[in-house]
Amino acid sequence: MLVTIARRIENFGIEQKVSAMRWLAPVALLATLLIATPAQAAEPLRSHAEDRGKFIGTALATTPLAGEAAYRNIAAAQFNQITAENAMKWEDTEPSDGNYTFAGADQIVAFATQNNQTVHGHTLVWHSQTPGWVQGLSAAAMRTAMQDHIATVVGRYAANPVVTSWDVVNEAFNEDGTFRTSFWYNTLGQGYIAEAFRLARAADPNARLCINDYNVEGINAKSTALYNLVSSLRSQGVPVDCVGFQAHLATQYGFPGQVQQNLQRFADLGVEVRFTELDVRIVMPRDAAKDATQATYFRNIINACNAVTACSGVTLWGFTDKHSWVPDTFPSEGAALIYDANYATKPAYTAVHDALAGPPSNDTTPPTTPTALTASGTTSTSTNLSWTASTDNVGVVGYDILRGSSVVGTSTTTSFTASGLSPSTTYQFQVRARDAAGLTSPLSGAVSVTTGPGSGGGCTAAATTQTQWSTGYVIQPVTVTNTGSAGISGWTVTFTLPAGHTITGHWNAAVTVSGSTVTAKNMPYNGTLAANASTSFGLQASRPNGNTALPSGYSCA
Ligand code: G3I
Repeated sequence: MLVTIARRIENFGIEQKVSAMRWLAPVALLATLLIATPAQAAEPLRSHAEDRGKFIGTALATTPLAGEAAYRNIAAAQFNQITAENAMKWEDTEPSDGNYTFAGADQIVAFATQNNQTVHGHTLVWHSQTPGWVQGLSAAAMRTAMQDHIATVVGRYAANPVVTSWDVVNEAFNEDGTFRTSFWYNTLGQGYIAEAFRLARAADPNARLCINDYNVEGINAKSTALYNLVSSLRSQGVPVDCVGFQAHLATQYGFPGQVQQNLQRFADLGVEVRFTELDVRIVMPRDAAKDATQATYFRNIINACNAVTACSGVTLWGFTDKHSWVPDTFPSEGAALIYDANYATKPAYTAVHDALAGPPSNDTTPPTTPTALTASGTTSTSTNLSWTASTDNVGVVGYDILRGSSVVGTSTTTSFTASGLSPSTTYQFQVRARDAAGLTSPLSGAVSVTTGPGSGGGCTAAATTQTQWSTGYVIQPVTVTNTGSAGISGWTVTFTLPAGHTITGHWNAAVTVSGSTVTAKNMPYNGTLAANASTSFGLQASRPNGNTALPSGYSCA
């Protein structure tokens, strides 16, 4: 097994580090068998990954690693690659200028050494978790600080065969594909990226050097900007060896489109690709349906990596819901990992296991795009969708139905009834085909459907996003139209606010929020609308940095 992995890594040019690991294999296998729980002893995730020549990794936090046997045992038994969740970040390794502290980083490396795991260093140049003393430096001093930090941190482990790769630059882009105007960018210009990679190569000629980001798993503006940057850097001889796709997914936002195709286009540039921080959060509480959807997302990511030769493996951002960053950042969300908070496996564990264990898929051809999507028989609460079948070199196994960007159902035929819709509301639907290897086609063209008025209904609400930025947006106008044949003297618009968003201002409506439901009622001066007449209101909201969701599901009564 390990020889396979060694061969694969040699392809990326680090023979020296890997050959030093070979003697560790028998020790590690024995250790794995001794500490695995009986039910999993025969087939931990790492065995299946190694059989494929891939890694399966996890982020580890130093506190439970020191204090919890269950955490240590699972981490050792199930994974063959480790990333420090926080311990190698700048604020941990160099909290003040020139004062280096490696206790946490060394703890991670020691654990990996003991358990025959590789370590991916995370992360060198990032706008977050970098101390204030760096952020305020002049250009010359910041460049010196970067040189010293990379040389010292990467240099510390350069001769250590366990540390095989680094995230050199993390999260350099905004969602629209422009460069993030971080203190790095603002002080040094975009050249800081090439400079960081050259410094890292000088500090360890054998480590694979990665650029890493989130929301770049599918094909979109941000991943295309990353693709263009990697292509350009490599054509200039900048040593970018690897691209990391974080994959912090959320079931309520749908699975990203064209993940395998996206990996492949990067691979075609000649770089290694990997998923670096996979987790799939749900809106709490857990239930069987959410667990099943979550499991599908985990499986899809493993399958995408299986199907792309240049994908070296998948790292989960932790493995137990007991220790996950998600609830701290998204208070109503969580349960994002493959073990629950009591270290019991979840359906997502089985999905990861089975996807790693299944026969390697040679299929790299996705189905063709479904065409001629139409809607018929639309009522106030439902519509019937149908489309023309896709074709596939192996066979189409089903279709995903998307409303906006969310998957709202699946079908094994070429039709689907979308129900539970709100009266007098406009929805956009698209479909995509899936094959047995988990490959998905591009999305079909969209069909727009406006449901009929409910029994007492007679108004519609349509929203325009006037402007948005990384931490907020303005929705203006929300146009309210009386679609009835008689005048109305009041209206109530409801819509869904994504988790973690907060309305910070509104005008021309009285707004209340309950859970994720926003209710906007007319003001005294704009409630009366003649037949076909319209009025409007607007709102401003804040959202967690990097979250791209917008309100949805506007309806009027
Ligand atoms: O160590 C201090 C502790 O002393 C203090 O008592 C406690 C009080 O809040 O904070 C502790 O620091 C926390 C640190 O994690 C260690 O636990 C920080 O508050 C907290 O903000 C920090 O969160 C980390 C986050 O990065 C920071 O950006 C998460 O654990 C970590 O999972 C997360 O990881 C990032 C990746 O590095 C990059 N990609 C996104 C991913 C998720 O946000």
